[in-house]
Amino acid sequence: MRRLVINPARKGAAINKNIYGHFAEHLGRCIYGGIFVGASSQIPNVNGMRTDVVEALKAIKAPVLRWPGGCFADEYHWMDGIGSQAGRKNMINTHWGGVVEDNSFGTHEFFELCAQIGCDPYITGNVGSGTVREMSEWVEYITFDGVSPMAGLRRENGREAPWKLPFFGVGNENWGCGGNMCAGTYARTYRQYQTYVREYAENKIAKIACGPNSDDYEWTQTMMDNCHCRKGHKGGANFRMDGLSLHYYTYPGGRENRGSALHFDYEKYFQTLGEALRMEALIRGHSFIMDQYDPEKTVGLVVDEWGTWYDVEEGTNPGFLYQQNTMRDAIVAGVTLNTFNNHCDRVVMANIAQTVNVLQAVILTQDEKMILTPTYHVFDLYKGHQDALLLESYVEAQDILCGEYAIPDLHVSASQGGDGAIRATLVNLSPNREQAIKCGLGELNIKSAAARVLAGAMDAYNDFDAPGIVQPGPLEGITIHGGEIDFVLPACAVAEIVIDAGGSLVQGS
Ligand code: AHR
Repeated sequence: MRRLVINPARKGAAINKNIYGHFAEHLGRCIYGGIFVGASSQIPNVNGMRTDVVEALKAIKAPVLRWPGGCFADEYHWMDGIGSQAGRKNMINTHWGGVVEDNSFGTHEFFELCAQIGCDPYITGNVGSGTVREMSEWVEYITFDGVSPMAGLRRENGREAPWKLPFFGVGNENWGCGGNMCAGTYARTYRQYQTYVREYAENKIAKIACGPNSDDYEWTQTMMDNCHCRKGHKGGANFRMDGLSLHYYTYPGGRENRGSALHFDYEKYFQTLGEALRMEALIRGHSFIMDQYDPEKTVGLVVDEWGTWYDVEEGTNPGFLYQQNTMRDAIVAGVTLNTFNNHCDRVVMANIAQTVNVLQAVILTQDEKMILTPTYHVFDLYKGHQDALLLESYVEAQDILCGEYAIPDLHVSASQGGDGAIRATLVNLSPNREQAIKCGLGELNIKSAAARVLAGAMDAYNDFDAPGIVQPGPLEGITIHGGEIDFVLPACAVAEIVIDAGGSLVQGS
């Protein structure tokens, strides 16, 4: 029997709901076909947005959506995507598959999508091939309420009131597809570009800088050294870095030997989890550097691209990055989201790559059909953590050894919501061994508990002909003894355990 201990007396920071964010790029069938089908489509839609997809994203309380890229962002010229549909430019999406981009999904459509989902928009501007003026005018077009050329253009295009834009990224992967800059060059460029990301009237914008690729600690150091603006230090009133992004993808076996999303053996499974668990070390490493400059944690770490990256499905366009999704991906999502929760003092947003039909998608579509992936169900199990207070938690895990990897067999995070309910999300990484768990709350007695679980073979998945193979259900057999609960967690499983210990929020250190 393994122990799981949740300590309601030791509370951490609030878990920012934006940790449960999403990312949708003009890549393959993510936007076109996956989200946007156009108002004249036979597929049920509202103003061109697929109703099934919007409803599914609402159901997991998707809090924020990052757009238009990705690498696409640094080739995107926003003026190509406004005005009458007939007048919009056709271009080639050079980065992703060389297909025609007709710009039918642009700024107005993105804000319509966010309104339908009920999520916040997060736009990434073009630094790599765009100008300061272009970026500045985009912000003006979106957020300015007065008399100005851009506000006038927006009105001409049918939108009277400005939109709210709470998050703006100053470029994407500017160390790579966003201009191949070295850290010093980008730091200088960031200082310049962000100056003209203006905040009009009440619209407050969190300015998010391009951060490191994976373990590039030098990049983080350079950015903090040059762009973190402490009071009375380095820079004027209009100079801020509110967030630093981190991109980390799980490539089992490295970029060259990733393997299939569906067909893999135990070794590949452990390799995948070993690589996914590196997120913990990356957050610690980058946070350590950030803490030297910013002990008050005013700059958030924004993990705005994360997820698994395998070979594309056979017969699909290699530039579309379409992959299936199994219980292995659900386990990756479970441990990654636990890791973000446990570091919520520094991690303020994360955006899984990507929402529909691309990489570790939460939703897959095929014409009018839609399926929810195992990863989607993990977001559903974890949604109760949004804006809750992190609680200290500990699970007695044992390492599973496989090749160069030592994988803990259990992984947890816990929180307490405003209603007093205590929630733990627990992952059993073992592909074949269930675990008996005894869970206590220290000095508090558990009054009642209920749990939902997602479990299956490591390579189980949902398909268009069998969409319900992997889905959550109640975890049966929870018993209470002496104020603690006992239950058995199946192999290869992600569970949400909701505990009632009396209702009110416990005051703690
Ligand atoms: O998500 C796919 C791509 O991965 C993004 O466009 C880019 O930012 C990253 O390299």
